[in-house]
Amino acid sequence: MNKRILIIGACGQIGTELTLKLREINGKNAVIASDIREGNKELMNSGPFEFINAMEYDSILKIIDDFNITDVYLMAAMLSATGEKFPAKAWELNMNSLFNVLNLAKEGKIKKLFWPSSIAVFGPTTPKENTPQETIMEPSTVYGISKQAGERWCEYYFNKFGVDVRSIRYPGIISWKTNPGGGTTDYAVEIYHNALLIGKYSSFLKKDTKLPMMYMDDAIEATIKIMDADAKDIKIRSSYNLAAMSFTPEEIANEIKKIVPEFKISYHSDFRQNIADSWPKSIDDSRARQDWGWEHKFDIKKMSESMLNSLHTKYDVL
Ligand SMILES: NC(=O)c1ccc[n+]([C@@H]2O[C@H](COP(=O)([O-])OP(=O)(O)OC[C@H]3O[C@@H](n4cnc5c(N)ncnc54)[C@H](O)[C@@H]3O)[C@@H](O)[C@H]2O)c1
Repeated sequence: MNKRILIIGACGQIGTELTLKLREINGKNAVIASDIREGNKELMNSGPFEFINAMEYDSILKIIDDFNITDVYLMAAMLSATGEKFPAKAWELNMNSLFNVLNLAKEGKIKKLFWPSSIAVFGPTTPKENTPQETIMEPSTVYGISKQAGERWCEYYFNKFGVDVRSIRYPGIISWKTNPGGGTTDYAVEIYHNALLIGKYSSFLKKDTKLPMMYMDDAIEATIKIMDADAKDIKIRSSYNLAAMSFTPEEIANEIKKIVPEFKISYHSDFRQNIADSWPKSIDDSRARQDWGWEHKFDIKKMSESMLNSLHTKYDVL
């Protein structure tokens, strides 16, 4: 049977670009985008769209039946910074949506499931440099707790029920097409917009806060690669560490200054500093590289050039 894909939370930062890429590969009608809200024009004009609330099992089931869906990508979630403002809602959305799709897979309604985890599964007691795949995990945010619990449930559904669920611990994702959705690494996207539009940026993280990051193109490639891998090569069924680069606000500002010399940065940290301080500075992703051939393409230089070029065209400035 041909692959037919449903993306839940398709209008967000990652879902938008994932949908466009999967449509390019599989044909537009093989990929159903869904969300509780409409997405940008490019997404809405690129193929079929359905309203689905990830918390409602029956609405997901109906679309799976209507479109003979085989693979689901669950991208709906409440992210780290917003989750700290609404902890109960974050827990409810992040866990219920995952249970819905895990149970649909358990009941044989779909064949394969992608669910993203995050570097937020790690906490203040985790070794911060080159954080191993298996290590101390005591997350201190509600978002991190929900992702860690989610990982345990994914592994449990694989072991107990043979559910083919695959997962990646995304680092902070940087992109230009869609705005980020309330995470702690959002500064690394906003900084490029502000550099081009007003030539300055006030960072909500301190200048030496180093975090693991990844350009969207690499994140999409990893997502598609892990889903296309042979099931026997997916040896970790909780979630894989994944890395590309790590940098501080000062380092990214210096990179931007090479292209926009008049750019100025100031630092005024807020509640997100505590979240960032609890996370790793760099990640050991050797298992993903070994098991299913992960390779990143973008470093901070290549990413900065691509971000500024793409945003320049988008805003038509300078
Ligand atoms: N962006 C990052 O830097 C990053 C890093 C690590 C992990 N992740 C994970 O990747 C996934 C996607 O992240 P993102 O950055 O695209 O998030 P986002 O906030 O940009 O997008 C989430 C989308 O889900 C939708 N949504 C919210 N509630 C919903 C519901 N009840 N039913 C259906 N849709 C709903 C929203 O409307 C939004 O379009 C999430 O699981 C997130 O935790 C993201």
